[in-house]
This record gives sequence, C-alpha cells and structure tokens, in this order.
Amino acid sequence: MVNFLKKEPKLFNGILSFNIENDETKKVVNFYKKTPFPNYKESDNRQSILIKGDKNFLASQFKSFIGHKKKILEVGCGTGQLSIYFAIGSNNEVVALDPTIDSLKLAQNFSKKNNVSNINFINADIFDDVLKNEYFDFIWCNGVLHHTKDPYFAFEILVKSLKKEGYILIGLYNKIGRLRTIFRRYVYKIFGSKILENIDPTLRNLKLDEDEKKAWIRDQYTHPIESLHTIDEVLNWFKKNNIKFISSIPSADFDFNYKDIFTPKSEGSYFSRLFNQFSMIFNSLGSDGGLFVLIGKKE
Ligand SMILES: C[S@@+](CC[C@H](N)C(=O)[O-])C[C@H]1O[C@@H](n2cnc3c(N)ncnc32)[C@H](O)[C@@H]1O
Repeated sequence: MVNFLKKEPKLFNGILSFNIENDETKKVVNFYKKTPFPNYKESDNRQSILIKGDKNFLASQFKSFIGHKKKILEVGCGTGQLSIYFAIGSNNEVVALDPTIDSLKLAQNFSKKNNVSNINFINADIFDDVLKNEYFDFIWCNGVLHHTKDPYFAFEILVKSLKKEGYILIGLYNKIGRLRTIFRRYVYKIFGSKILENIDPTLRNLKLDEDEKKAWIRDQYTHPIESLHTIDEVLNWFKKNNIKFISSIPSADFDFNYKDIFTPKSEGSYFSRLFNQFSMIFNSLGSDGGLFVLIGKKE
C-alpha cells in the first residue's frame, strides 16, 4: 500500500489511479478534458514555473512558510503547476490529487521531463476519501471545492487527512466578490467571447496565449458546476472541524497587510467581513473571478 493512501490504487500511465464513478465529478472531468487548467506553454520549464510561482504572492508565502521535510497535499491540482512549484528545490513530499487524468498526464510528463521527483500524482475524486488520516502538514485547495457537488462534505474529507497543528488553505468563489464575473457572464452569453477581451481584466491585462485565453474563458464563464460562498460560511466549517482561523484574503477585519498570511489575525466582526467582501466588487480582489481565501490550523 502507498504510504499516503488508505485504498489500493491502480497504476495508469505511471499515475496512481482510482475509478471516477460519481456523475457530477464525471461532468467536471469532461469539462477539463477539453482544456486542462491551467495550461502549459511550449516553453515552460523548471525555471519558468519557479518564476511564475514566485510571482504568485500566496503560493510563494506558502512555499517559504512550509520549510523543509514536510508533507504537502494539493487537492484539485489540475495540471499540477503549483504542486510542481512547491516541490522544486525542496525535500518536501508533495502529493497532488485531481480527478481529470488528462490534466495529470500533462503534470506527470512535465515533472518527468524536468526531473522533479518528490511529487506523486493521484487520479481520484475527493469524495472517494482515498487519503490517509492525519498524514499531511499542509493542504492547499484553491479554486476547487466550488466545482464539486457538496463543498462542505469535501472540506470535511480533506481535513481528516491533515495532521494536528497542520495548516489548510481554502480558496472559493465569493458570493459577493464574484458579482462582476457573473455580470460579465450575462454579457458573454448575449455578445459572445470577443467582448470579454475588453471587459475581463485577466484577458485584458495578462499576456495570455490563445490556449490560455480559451481555458480561462471556459473556466470562468461556462463551467457546469459552480457554487458561491462567504467568509462566515467557511469560518463555520472551520469551527465544526476544530480548525483555528489564521487569516483570510480579503481580511476579516480591517488589517490589510497580506504580507504575512500565516501570522494569526483577528476574525473581525460580521460587519467588517461583510464590508470587505462587498469591497471586492470595486477592488482588485474581485477582478480575477472573485476568489477569497481562508487559512486555518488544525487544533
Ligand atoms: C479551476 S480548476 C483549479 C486548478 C488549480 N487548483 C488552480 O488553482 O489552478 C478546478 C480543479 O478542481 C478539480 N476538481 C473538480 N472536482 C473535483 C473533485 N471532486 N475532487 C478533486 N478535484 C476536483 C478539477 O479537475 C480541476 O482541476
């Protein structure tokens, strides 16, 4: 038995695999099969993934906070770019799970070609609960649970595999902060994708190639399963599962210093949380799809 799994996998193309049986998950898999997310550029290599990861202020803080000889899990890793970033140049053991085998094949090919060996890919559905309990020091799950049939149940399963004193980062679409994207989705439905190049900040400001643009548009505007959440809802998930709140983006109170997201911050009040989520409609946090992030520590 593989040490981080509690069920016996099959080996498929060198990837530890489980059958994907659930109909909702199959829908999501079919969706990502067409345009695996995020896509690799022809020119991507160890160096370019490192540069991209270092530019991502959340991922780079996460990586330096982790330190060494730790066990890290990414759930919903897609093509594995972040997990590969966490693995490069470290002696950490990284496990990256996703139900979309087509995305994992890209991840596996990339890590083989670039000699990233401290990473294992698992083809599985989070709901199949295949991971060992209390095994990981860090769990990263960003932009995933809102694409599942039952985000809270998925969270409960995830938390089981986190060690005591371990950290978890959850990123979800915000009920208020995603309003701009929802508005653009209506515009897209009426006028088509051309107009998005002018009104979607990611398409307008980032230098994406055609494949990356296509993947972004499909992911943001045509996804078959999507739910919206709030900071208060996730705080409640944390409370029910013995997870202590560490920090959030946007902030839960009025401390907007995001340079030290692993230092415990105040949970603020219902009003401060509501105000900061509402502000996402007008500030840069809501321009990129309206994701919000909470970090917690298992007690
Ligand atoms: C928007 S992508 C995000 C990919 C990556 N986390 C990122 O931030 O770039 C959502 C990912 O969630 C995965 N996913 C969806 N349903 C899942 C499930 N039931 N179990 C595990 N992963 C799932 C999809 O296969 C997809 O790779």
